[in-house]
Amino acid sequence: MDFVKRRSLLSLAVLGPLLSGCSGADVQPLTFANRLHIPPLAPSEIDPDGFRSFALNLQPGKNGTWGINGDHLGPTVRVKRGERVRMAVTNRLPEATTLHWHGMRLPARMDGGPHQSIESGATWTPQWTVDQPAATTWFHPHPHGKTATHVYRGLAGLFLVDEPGGPALPSDYGVDDIPLIVQDKILDNGRLVTGPVDNGTFGLLGDTIMINGTIDPYVEVTTTQVRFRLLNASNTRVYRIGFADNRTFHVVGGDAGLLREPAPADRVKISPGERIEIVAAFSPGETVVLNSIGENRRDANDPEEDDFELLKVVAAASLKPSKPLPRALGGPAPVIPPPGARVRRFALSGSEINGRDMDMNRIDEVVPAGAVEIWEIDNTTYAHNFHIHEVAFTILDINGEPPPAYLAGPKDTVFLKKHADVRLAVRFGRHTDPVTPYMYHCHLLRHEDKGMMGQFVIVDPGTEHLIPRTIPTGHHHHG
Ligand code: C2O
Ligand code: CU
Repeated sequence: MDFVKRRSLLSLAVLGPLLSGCSGADVQPLTFANRLHIPPLAPSEIDPDGFRSFALNLQPGKNGTWGINGDHLGPTVRVKRGERVRMAVTNRLPEATTLHWHGMRLPARMDGGPHQSIESGATWTPQWTVDQPAATTWFHPHPHGKTATHVYRGLAGLFLVDEPGGPALPSDYGVDDIPLIVQDKILDNGRLVTGPVDNGTFGLLGDTIMINGTIDPYVEVTTTQVRFRLLNASNTRVYRIGFADNRTFHVVGGDAGLLREPAPADRVKISPGERIEIVAAFSPGETVVLNSIGENRRDANDPEEDDFELLKVVAAASLKPSKPLPRALGGPAPVIPPPGARVRRFALSGSEINGRDMDMNRIDEVVPAGAVEIWEIDNTTYAHNFHIHEVAFTILDINGEPPPAYLAGPKDTVFLKKHADVRLAVRFGRHTDPVTPYMYHCHLLRHEDKGMMGQFVIVDPGTEHLIPRTIPTGHHHHG
């Protein structure tokens, strides 16, 4: 795949629409005028000590956007399981931020949460061994109280983990394995409007959809089957994605890895932070629109009321035959809690968890390394979601019912409609650190910024009662 050639075409598709973007309040049908931008694969080097190293520069772009190694969004980082990676994250923004590896299983000091602040002008260099199943993960800033603005400006990118010997799924990046980063924006005369990130109950709900930073996008496909890696990187909006003709496709992966077997579906709901990988089949010469059709358009308690066209898929006149979809995908086995597994309960209210606001100095939960626990999330109000750093979980039930097959795979984020209850079987990792916490929180970014977040540490089993529940102010690690 020729990135250089494609990129030069693309910069027009990305920036042109920004300059001519509309700011109307109504949802307009799209004209599909712009070729979908495919984020370039991030270049890497092998350091003398064997680490694969990447350089990510967080920098201001044009028209109010921020980007990573560019004006808006970031490159796609792609690594293999087992590789040791090192990231040089340089903050060229006018203020402090962080870069969090959402979905990565790694030591807390490398996690890029609110405790790993990167001052303006500084470089943070976390490193770790990638040891987790194939997955579509991503990265975005996580500064205390400012995540909504930083992500909305455009700081986000994909981080793909491949596992050698995986199933025969379409995997030619940008050709039959196409990332779709879905975000809603508000534009005014081609400039990003950043003011309303804190508006209302849910925060910013934009009227203009960008896919990979492209407004009004189309994509040409050249194979009979195409894998789309969906990432909802919106501040708060939930999408219910499918094709305009309601054709069936197959879900092959969730947040934290592949499913056991493909799950047929014609709509999938995806809330902020979640990833869903689908494989769809196309006939030569056809066009079909990918869209989002809200389920609860009359219900102001769910941030998903609007319908959007997302992307026109244009199939070439002749398509290269894809391998048949494998029956078994080899995804991780479901997490099964052992008898007597510890149960922790989390009640979500307007912007609190268990009646408390986020406190960077307070450790809320202490978890023994390698534990398998049941986390019960009880939503007492309007819609939220719940994300846990560092873990993979299996959804045991939603309102007492098993989840739909497409949500049965390994996950790290779960959507909770108004008043929903979910039970999760959570497998924790083995990187211990009693003084550096991981986060759990609502991934509707306004809620997260308002304090709907808690902190947990992973410690050596048997030492839980010895762990201090407060950590010193200004306890920051700069890697
Ligand atoms: Cu996507 Cu705590 O984050
Ligand atoms: Cu919330």
